[in-house]
Amino acid sequence: MQNPIIAALDVPHFEKANSLINDIGGQVGAFKIGMELFTAVGPRMIHDIRQRETPVFLDLKFHDIPNTVRKAVSAAVRLDVQMLTIHTHGGLEMMKAAESAAQETAASLDKAPPLVLGVSVLTSMDQSDLQSIGITTALPDQVLRVIELGLQAGLRGFVCSPLEIDPLRRILPPETKLVTPGIRMATDALADQKRILSPQQAMAKGADYLVIGRPIYAAPAPREALNQILATL
Ligand code: C5P
Repeated sequence: MQNPIIAALDVPHFEKANSLINDIGGQVGAFKIGMELFTAVGPRMIHDIRQRETPVFLDLKFHDIPNTVRKAVSAAVRLDVQMLTIHTHGGLEMMKAAESAAQETAASLDKAPPLVLGVSVLTSMDQSDLQSIGITTALPDQVLRVIELGLQAGLRGFVCSPLEIDPLRRILPPETKLVTPGIRMATDALADQKRILSPQQAMAKGADYLVIGRPIYAAPAPREALNQILATL
């Protein structure tokens, strides 16, 4: 994937997603289908994007017992997605089950396995949010800890805040992919995101892909907003 921008299609129905895809399709590396759109539209949305030969990132953040996650990942591979997410906080066995399901199902279909991305700590959370769920470890250490566990499970990529790229790049094998949401231009509203950087800063730190939602889909002119972002890279 040449273009590092992954546009999040966090919209409620097929028609809205389709008009965004028509508007910006040629100018992004992939489209991300999250919980809202997948729950509303289902696999049809993936088929539609794949027919345009654009990669699909299925962001359902699986977090369940290993057997359930294994079967969900297999189903996602059969839908022909190129990236998908699981929560690292589901633990070692769950992550191993996800990665092996991706590898085995893809091999049985004679295609490349999707990138199974371990979500470290959500970019909407800060230290006090971690504290409130009983995690007293410093946030950057918690990110490192779950990513090291993900590496042990064989994961080849992770989702993290752009603010955490530096320490991660020091320990990760160079081929490990880092995908960063929490991307905001100086004029964008933060909304619920807390650990953010600009697209240019995130790429300079070594992100492989940038997930961008509201700064594009909620802009008055999404294509113009995307072009402004691309011009900074
Ligand atoms: O609108 P915004 O740019 O904040 O969207 C960020 C996207 O990235 C959303 O679709 C969200 O679900 C996703 N995401 C995230 N934080 C993570 C993982 C995924 O914000 N840790």
